[in-house]
Amino acid sequence: MKRRTFLKDAAWATVFASVAPALPSCSSPSASESADLERIAARLPFRADGTFTLVQFTDTHYIAGDPRSERALACVKDAIEGVKPDLIIHTGDIVFGRPDLDSAREILTPLANSGIPWAVALGNHDSQFGSTREDMFSLIRSLPGCVNTAPKEGIYGCSNDVILLQGDQGAERAFYLFDSMDAVILKGMEEQHCYDYIRVSQLNWYKAHSEKLQAGNNNVPVPALAFFHIPLREIERALLEAPNRFLVGNNCEEPCPSRVNSGLFGLFLERGDVQAIVTGHDHDCDYVLRGETGINFIYGRFSGCDTVYNHLGRSGVSPEKVSGCRVFRFTKGKPGFRTWVRLLGGEEQQVVDIQ
Ligand SMILES: [Fe+2]
Repeated sequence: MKRRTFLKDAAWATVFASVAPALPSCSSPSASESADLERIAARLPFRADGTFTLVQFTDTHYIAGDPRSERALACVKDAIEGVKPDLIIHTGDIVFGRPDLDSAREILTPLANSGIPWAVALGNHDSQFGSTREDMFSLIRSLPGCVNTAPKEGIYGCSNDVILLQGDQGAERAFYLFDSMDAVILKGMEEQHCYDYIRVSQLNWYKAHSEKLQAGNNNVPVPALAFFHIPLREIERALLEAPNRFLVGNNCEEPCPSRVNSGLFGLFLERGDVQAIVTGHDHDCDYVLRGETGINFIYGRFSGCDTVYNHLGRSGVSPEKVSGCRVFRFTKGKPGFRTWVRLLGGEEQQVVDIQ
């Protein structure tokens, strides 16, 4: 079932009822400055050979006990064992049904058992099946290896975190995780669905970290990647405006961003540190799109199974060709990174070098 369809049916009704009244309790508008703003989720080293490998899972849409989820669990296990990454980031829609906490615990068990640090950027569906976003995030944070920090006072959402990749002279990369939340009710548009958007408090939080890292790096921006679930509106423009666009991967679905542009992309441009915006959400896209501004739009590879729409496995293609992950490899002392898609079973596709 297409995401748009089921939102109109059941889930949207749930969202409307549960999200509309107020911001989540972890998003108190008070306290603009606090120790929370300074918190770093993890500082990770390169390997002895000077490389660092990151695996991104997205949209596992897991339902414990549901056979339609089996391949999602196999995909996660296979990627961890096959790639042996140094960091794992799940960009949300971890679960897609009840019991939601048990579902999260089950699909994240391979991460928890891996001994590898990992983090999540929650998706819009992760608080739609009984538990609050705070309770889901608390359960996830309690699992071994999770480096996400507690929700920060005054910052909208839960899964906002910074992970640093440390070189010989300090941080060489920053991985920013934003909580793109679920849905929002806009005045005058009460009957229309609207995905939530990155709020001013999150922009300020990112800007503070970005400026601090630059100040500690001889006033040079520290290259960064931004991970969150729902893509930004600018991806639509990038698709339209770039006649000579560089696009590698599957582009089988229109992006579904929020209706609201809250300025995160402009802030990325001003700060000059974010090389790539890495999202999930649109299951039938797994491409790298090089925008004219130099910021890359990157989709993860759908890591789920058959609890939700997915059309990357066209007729005649084995189910193992549907589910996968995206891999990023960084090299100490070198700008940019290499990224590719890895399918369940080990096949690698779409190798792109970002300078
Ligand atoms: Fe999804």
